Amino acid sequence: MIDQLQTMLQDALSQIASANSQLELGELKANFLGKKSPLSEIMKKMGSMSPEERKTFGMKANEFKVQIENALNARRTELERLAIAARLASEHIDVTLPGRKLSVGSLHPLTKTIEEVEDFFIGMGYNIAEGPEVELDLYNFEMLNVPKGHPARDMQDSFYILDNLLLRTQTSPVQARTLLVSDNKPVKILCPGKVYRRDDDDATHSHQFMQFEGLVVGSDITMSDLKGTLEAFMRKMFGPTREIRFRPSYFPFTEPSVEVDVSCFKCGGKGCPLCKGNGWIEVLGAGMVHPNVLTQAGYDAEKMRGFAFGVGIERVVMLKYGIDDIRHLYTNDIRFLKQFERGE
Ligand code: DAH
Repeated sequence: MIDQLQTMLQDALSQIASANSQLELGELKANFLGKKSPLSEIMKKMGSMSPEERKTFGMKANEFKVQIENALNARRTELERLAIAARLASEHIDVTLPGRKLSVGSLHPLTKTIEEVEDFFIGMGYNIAEGPEVELDLYNFEMLNVPKGHPARDMQDSFYILDNLLLRTQTSPVQARTLLVSDNKPVKILCPGKVYRRDDDDATHSHQFMQFEGLVVGSDITMSDLKGTLEAFMRKMFGPTREIRFRPSYFPFTEPSVEVDVSCFKCGGKGCPLCKGNGWIEVLGAGMVHPNVLTQAGYDAEKMRGFAFGVGIERVVMLKYGIDDIRHLYTNDIRFLKQFERGE
């Protein structure tokens, strides 16, 4: 019987040594030391042994039991140690690795330019004005001397929402709105904002783009004020030696109306691809506020006069930074924006 115990012990010790989890160890403990284990079975038979035999057998059985318990404890401790080591290895942090770089955003070319333009005009005493993008026909056209059926409406294909409501086609309605609440007093405003036209998008057209509108009204405002203002503005945007020239044009809300060119800032006026060889680049529309516009807003057109101008912001951005497609300003391709940020 002692031999039987010996074989069982060897078997138990080898199984315990190769156990791979605490659960397995628990099962082995039950198998080898539990009430139904072979050891318990054998010990039950001790009653029928002689006192001498019982003594030696009992001692042996106890010794085996202790050996199994020790082996179980040793393996348990070993498995715990292995588990901690594995966890430490998997949760190891290499503090010497370089950190992840966060990319920082930058101002969009349009925003940057609008801020520059605003700063310039605020410095000249202008107030920034705003108006709604969903506008009444009344302000977008009628109060700007463009009554219903006027042929000049064809110049601006419009998105109508209702008969009398549309997406504004220009920032000029802010002129009408401002004059209406200004009680025949002097006005000096700049209004940047989005405008909408029913144009097909291509390299130079976008159904939504941005303009800024300038309006100055006072008792002694002349065309020279307009010229001086725009010349200073062009020099700020395109370089200190820029010249401007006025070309007669037509806008219903100004009389006389002009289109304004700036001397080419790339070739200085000699002629190059940017200015299409003629030394001048067309930048904006302007003029002296039409007396009808002043009168309709309750101004005394005999005593008060003003000038106004309207500029496409994308055009200024594209000229200033040599961008050849207006869509770059709206598709927000990160490669384009990064290139702009780097000043390339
Ligand atoms: N609103 C005009 C347009 O969108 C631009 C413009 C021209 C505005 C002359 C003015 C102006 O204030 O005086 O084409």
